[in-house]
Amino acid sequence: MHCLYSLFFWIALGLVCFRIYLKLMTGWCRSQVCLVGKTALVTGANTGIGYETALDFAKRGATVILACRDESKARKARDNIIEETNNKNVSYGLVDFLDLACVRKFADEFNSTHTRLDILVNNAAAVRLRGVTTDGYLAAVQVNYLGPFLLTMLLLNLIVKTPSARIVNVSSSAPNYSNPLDMDLMFDGPDRTKAYYRSKFGNILFTIELASRLANTTVTVYSLHPGVVDTDIFRRLPPSWKFVMDYIVRWFMKTSLEGAQTTIYCALQKGIESYSGEHFEDCHFVSRYAPVAKSVDQGTHKLLWDKSVKLLGLDVTI
Ligand SMILES: NC(=O)c1ccc[n+]([C@@H]2O[C@H](COP(=O)([O-])OP(=O)(O)OC[C@H]3O[C@@H](n4cnc5c(N)ncnc54)[C@H](OP(=O)(O)O)[C@@H]3O)[C@@H](O)[C@H]2O)c1
Ligand SMILES: *[C@@H]1O[C@H](CO)[C@@H](O)[C@H](O)[C@H]1NC(C)=O
Ligand SMILES: *[C@@H]1O[C@H](CO)[C@@H](O)[C@H](O)[C@H]1NC(C)=O
Ligand SMILES: *[C@@H]1O[C@H](CO)[C@@H](O)[C@H](O)[C@H]1NC(C)=O
Ligand SMILES: *[C@@H]1O[C@H](CO)[C@@H](O)[C@H](O)[C@H]1NC(C)=O
Ligand SMILES: *[C@@H]1O[C@H](CO)[C@@H](O)[C@H](O)[C@H]1NC(C)=O
Repeated sequence: MHCLYSLFFWIALGLVCFRIYLKLMTGWCRSQVCLVGKTALVTGANTGIGYETALDFAKRGATVILACRDESKARKARDNIIEETNNKNVSYGLVDFLDLACVRKFADEFNSTHTRLDILVNNAAAVRLRGVTTDGYLAAVQVNYLGPFLLTMLLLNLIVKTPSARIVNVSSSAPNYSNPLDMDLMFDGPDRTKAYYRSKFGNILFTIELASRLANTTVTVYSLHPGVVDTDIFRRLPPSWKFVMDYIVRWFMKTSLEGAQTTIYCALQKGIESYSGEHFEDCHFVSRYAPVAKSVDQGTHKLLWDKSVKLLGLDVTI
């Protein structure tokens, strides 16, 4: 009996130490940069990492546009941010990445009503998406990769016109644990989690290719892994996971505020411009994940770019 207690004691102590370790390893953006006069667009900003990112930009005085798909959630987020920051220059626009026509409409309106775009954060994404959209693409690939690609490309003129603008892609560490991206499978491969992996792989490759195409401009591009963050993204998991999630795993995850730090860092930290095209974790640069490096060796980033541009019928000049 005594022995059992002491076993529990050591396990509990181990878990507490592990949690302390995780908290110590969490990167924080310490930048004091002020964003008055700057415009920032954050997709999926009504909750989680996107919400904390938008809130931070608003605190720094930016004009912030929350791009969300649900009007009542968007309005609530905007009202909360205005109340908390007293920055009235916070608004929302509606965009649903499940519908590419909607993305085009949003981009058109944005382009015609704004004269600059200093920070674009491609944050919106969803897990456990199934099936095919009305546009004919796997939902996971469209929402997490192709839709944000389209949005970025349609806003690129505006971004390039804005001095020292930044594009930040919230990706994941998922590509660290997969094979190099197979272009034949990117848009037509298996559905479910595999499609999420491929879409997040696409985010990183897109960042690399776009950065190289924008090398002669003042625009810089970054991708990142936010960490394992306690957000709504996990509320889409099966109910059987819920107990484990709620009572055990959650304790070891980052809060949304912690999870947003690397996004904020990539969006405004001065001095990281030479890392354009690179990937970040915990507010520092990390070298390319092996499968990503391999894909780049194989030229997949260029194939993916060409294929995406072709599918979307874009007229690209960069
Ligand atoms: N949480 C993690 O541990 C983790 C780990 C690695 C990477 N990430 C990445 O971090 C980013 C933010 O995730 P999060 O954890 O903050 O997730 P979240 O709380 O679920 O937020 C995701 C946001 O994306 C929006 N969204 C989902 N589907 C959309 C669609 N079809 N059209 C427009 N917007 C849509 C959601 O809107 P609704 O509220 O209307 O659904 C929500 O605003 C994602 O790119 C995710 O892949 C997260
Ligand atoms: C809103 O934006 C305008 C124009 O950039 C700026 O002059 C004004 O100070 C901003 N207001 C707040 C409350 O930040
Ligand atoms: C990632 O970043 C690039 C530019 O960085 C952008 O065009 C692309 O749409 C973003 N998202 C995806 C899905 O890769
Ligand atoms: C954005 O608007 C400008 C002028 O307001 C226009 O010249 C340009 O073609 C538009 N770009 C896109 C991609 O719609
Ligand atoms: C990526 O993989 C490498 C080697 O397998 C590992 O050392 C590293 O911690 C991983 N990174 C993340 C963010 O999971
Ligand atoms: C950037 O400019 C240099 C020199 O002007 C040129 O050699 C190079 O091809 C340009 N790169 C891109 C991506 O346009």
